[in-house]
Amino acid sequence: MALDRPFGVGICGLGFMGRQYFSHLREHGHARVVAVCDRDAERRAGKWADPVGNISAGDRERVDMAGIDAYDDWDALIDDERVDVVAVTLPTPTHADVTVRALEAGKHVLCEKPMALTLAECDRMIAAAERTGRTLMVAQCIRFWPQYEEIKRRIDEGQIGAVRFAALRRVSSPPGHSSGAWMMDGAQSGGALFDLHVHDVDFAQYLLGSPANLTANGSHGPSGAIDHVVATYVYNDGRYATLEGGWVYHAPWPFEMAITVVGETGTLDWSMRRGPEIAFCHGGDAPEKISVGDETGWARELDYFIACLRDGRAPERCLPATSRASIALTLRERESIAQGGVLVGVPDV
Ligand SMILES: NC(=O)c1ccc[n+]([C@@H]2O[C@H](COP(=O)([O-])OP(=O)(O)OC[C@H]3O[C@@H](n4cnc5c(N)ncnc54)[C@H](O)[C@@H]3O)[C@@H](O)[C@H]2O)c1
Repeated sequence: MALDRPFGVGICGLGFMGRQYFSHLREHGHARVVAVCDRDAERRAGKWADPVGNISAGDRERVDMAGIDAYDDWDALIDDERVDVVAVTLPTPTHADVTVRALEAGKHVLCEKPMALTLAECDRMIAAAERTGRTLMVAQCIRFWPQYEEIKRRIDEGQIGAVRFAALRRVSSPPGHSSGAWMMDGAQSGGALFDLHVHDVDFAQYLLGSPANLTANGSHGPSGAIDHVVATYVYNDGRYATLEGGWVYHAPWPFEMAITVVGETGTLDWSMRRGPEIAFCHGGDAPEKISVGDETGWARELDYFIACLRDGRAPERCLPATSRASIALTLRERESIAQGGVLVGVPDV
């Protein structure tokens, strides 16, 4: 049902991701932040002097929370009548419970990745969305990241011919920002395998489809779970992809994401370490440089989700079933790693 007013958004969790959402939706054309929830009293009062990542209150001592209801309990936020949309930017172990509860209260839900750490939890979330008829999207932001979006668009248009292989990489030193260091507890975050690498698992699936088989090697790191992985996806038609992910590089290694896709007639390549431009090699002496907008994928993803709600259409670019499939693939990688890198089949995910 279309609304004749901006969607009321309730943000659960005001850490790194919650602040991204807050910044973009505070003054959005079609949405308003009407409620926030955090167990940290200073954070929900808008005192963001402690930077998480590079998101702080800036020069101001406090973020203006006027007109926004603040809760210490996500259950209470969900029951707030002004909230139409619940954004779940809480640590991963809460994702399934908060999402299911919000859907059952009649709210739409945008839940951060990874969807959950088990398929049973993913299934619970999907069943709740189906039962209630509310919209659920998992925030797989790389599908909306301008460089990744542009590379996929050009490939889909045939600009590099048939794809031969892709290489995706996402590495950093251990993240230090998470509240109570929950990310460094593999039981909560799933390690870099689920927290970081799942972005590339999801994008590989979006770009190339689900592989027939995969192998993965990896190692445990500071979280106690798998914190570094190198996986190879193999497709029945001869295509393959390598995916490296992890947070075991030593400080001050910067966060880095990169993608290279080689087709029959051209290569598309982007690394954030080189700058914002994509390099397109298709003959000649120098790569063609492709500029994309400087918006983040987070902002674009939020705009897309809100636009889907306004139009009353399913967010087809990022369906709960494909987010579940990314968890299924990540679990298969973990099985391969546990067996020393054996080839594992990928049953219908
Ligand atoms: N899409 C991306 O690029 C990206 C980047 C970072 C994190 N994430 C994901 O976003 C989610 C949140 O990560 P983060 O980095 O923002 O974590 P964070 O630790 O920075 O923030 C979590 C916030 O939730 C609050 N909180 C924790 N448990 C709570 C509870 N039970 N009730 C109320 N408040 C509670 C904490 O006080 C904190 O403010 C995770 O699932 C993570 O994987 C996604």
